[in-house]
Amino acid sequence: MTLRTLAPDDKIEITLNLNGRPVRTEVGPSTTLLDLLRNQLGLTGTKKGCDHGQCGACTVLIEGQRINACLKLAVMMDGREITTIEGLAQGDDLHPLQRAFIERDAFQCGYCTPGQICSAVALLAEGHAHDREEIRELMSGNICRCGAYPNIVDAIEDVMGQRQGYIREAAE
Ligand code: FES
Ligand code: FES
Repeated sequence: MTLRTLAPDDKIEITLNLNGRPVRTEVGPSTTLLDLLRNQLGLTGTKKGCDHGQCGACTVLIEGQRINACLKLAVMMDGREITTIEGLAQGDDLHPLQRAFIERDAFQCGYCTPGQICSAVALLAEGHAHDREEIRELMSGNICRCGAYPNIVDAIEDVMGQRQGYIREAAE
């Protein structure tokens, strides 16, 4: 087998399972997953904030685990299952966290919101958060510059409560 070094303008074919559908595309060796999603595939729900893994605006799910798409190379995603904010609703039926964010006014400018919601989906699946403090701690990688944190925690707590079969006292 002959090995060769990839040039920056070389293209590599990859196949993703993206929001439940197979997608075949070509990417450069240094293209990030974030740029693939936004620039090549037109899925602009995932936001670019810092582009350095520090704000969480680009959070998506890989096989259900939250990751910062700006830190992953697209070529490494070959064969992986990726869910973005566009893949959470079932048709017109919003994901419970999307509904909760609306009901709780959990966004102001909304820029961080897709990353917050994707991160919260994984947080609930992880099952490590049991109260507001743990939600805050485990969501600390997702920065909201508007300071909508209390409403974001409210929204996540609502859905966590629904899953655990209790409804939080509204007056809390
Ligand atoms: S854009 Fe990826 S963490 Fe900020
Ligand atoms: S709602 Fe504006 S940055 Fe989060």
